[in-house]
Amino acid sequence: MKVLVIGNGGREHALCHHLGQTTSVSQVFVAPGNSAMNETLPELQVVSVSAMDMNGLLELALNEKIDLTVVGPEATLSEGIVDLFQENNLLIVGPSKTASQLETSKAFAKKIMMDAGVPTAGYSEFFDADTALKYIETSPSEKMVVKCDGLAQGKGVVVCMTKYEARIAVISLMKEKILGENIDHIIIEEFLEGTEVSAFALCDGESFSFLGTACDHKRLRDGDLGPNTGGMGVFSPASCLETNDEKWINENVFAPMLSGMKKAGASFSGILFAGLMKTKLGWKVLEFNVRFGDPETQVLLPLLEENLAPWLKAAANGEIKKLQDELGRLSPAKKDKSGVHVVMAAHGYPGTEGVKVRLGDTIHFLNTFELGANDYLYFAGVEKNNGQLKTKGGRVLGITSLAKKLTLARQSAYEHISKVQFDGAQFRTDIGKGQV
Ligand code: AMP
Ligand code: GLY
Repeated sequence: MKVLVIGNGGREHALCHHLGQTTSVSQVFVAPGNSAMNETLPELQVVSVSAMDMNGLLELALNEKIDLTVVGPEATLSEGIVDLFQENNLLIVGPSKTASQLETSKAFAKKIMMDAGVPTAGYSEFFDADTALKYIETSPSEKMVVKCDGLAQGKGVVVCMTKYEARIAVISLMKEKILGENIDHIIIEEFLEGTEVSAFALCDGESFSFLGTACDHKRLRDGDLGPNTGGMGVFSPASCLETNDEKWINENVFAPMLSGMKKAGASFSGILFAGLMKTKLGWKVLEFNVRFGDPETQVLLPLLEENLAPWLKAAANGEIKKLQDELGRLSPAKKDKSGVHVVMAAHGYPGTEGVKVRLGDTIHFLNTFELGANDYLYFAGVEKNNGQLKTKGGRVLGITSLAKKLTLARQSAYEHISKVQFDGAQFRTDIGKGQV
């Protein structure tokens, strides 16, 4: 198979690396990728077509006779890349434009969850600020979460500890329009307390295969302090999972969501990423994403014992059940190991504290830097310029280490991180800390 990966971050570098490791894949293309990916993958074809250039991507896939396309970013999915590729008889893993609303519209996702009986935080929907403000006044709880309905550059969720904060959030979003004029639909959700876990299932509209769990660290600084980011590091599997939790999540989250989506005329194919909270009252869904997680993918893929390529192809073909029957297992085989992934970010990242994200810093690897068989280096915001690696994005790079025990994986990941240097580098020192 010739495979095309769409996107340019650490997630896509991990996908390119993983998919290139099986004999069933002859060549991997990435669009647009980044010029540093070739440092670890010299054979990778990095093609400069934007992840938002639908016709450019179609032309690339047709010209290169791509057999299977895997999409990273949600924006590409919600633009309708899957519909376009399928109309042109190209095999692609991912949800249709309609089904992508599970991520792009909080209200759509809530409605499906409610109808399918999937446990989630209680919520109310608002189309004007004054009604939302009145609701806040009468709410029995001080704590609540204000969420924009549409995609809002990752800034559309405001966790409020007081009614005052909730009022400010509603006013700035709906009256002052700080995230844009198009924000005219919000939901206000019950605040949930507990441990957050990301869980992943590969779906084909009818059937699914559970891919694993991971715990992301979304805040910039140690101890879950500082602003929200795209994710500063992750460990897998989620250590708070008890024996029956995977089965429970499959039966009470993924299975009813697939039926619910089908019933709504939006059959879900692709990666279903459930953001879950383990609360005192059990598991609840915080959100769904319709794609691989970043940085979760950077640890989930290295933990697979077998290649995901045949599973992805089966998902795109609607043949997950057939593959499961053939192989005699419900999911790809996993290594008996744990993994820790640590992200290094640029000075100023995530750019929400009044400092701009600084790009162009030179990245140095100490002479003692050496990757072992259980270590993986992924470039996210990096470019190669005159023979030097330079920072080119907020999240710059990440290192994954695997080991029998999570504590050893953590130690190894941090040993490697300590040998990578660039001015202004930021990273958390507590990814996976205190976990066994
Ligand atoms: P979302 O984009 O919906 O995942 O929200 C981003 C982050 O906000 C989540 O990862 C949680 O940390 C937090 N969050 C979202 N919804 C809730 C909720 N109902 N209660 C508490 N925290 C939440
Ligand atoms: N790690 C969270 C996300 O991919 O959205």
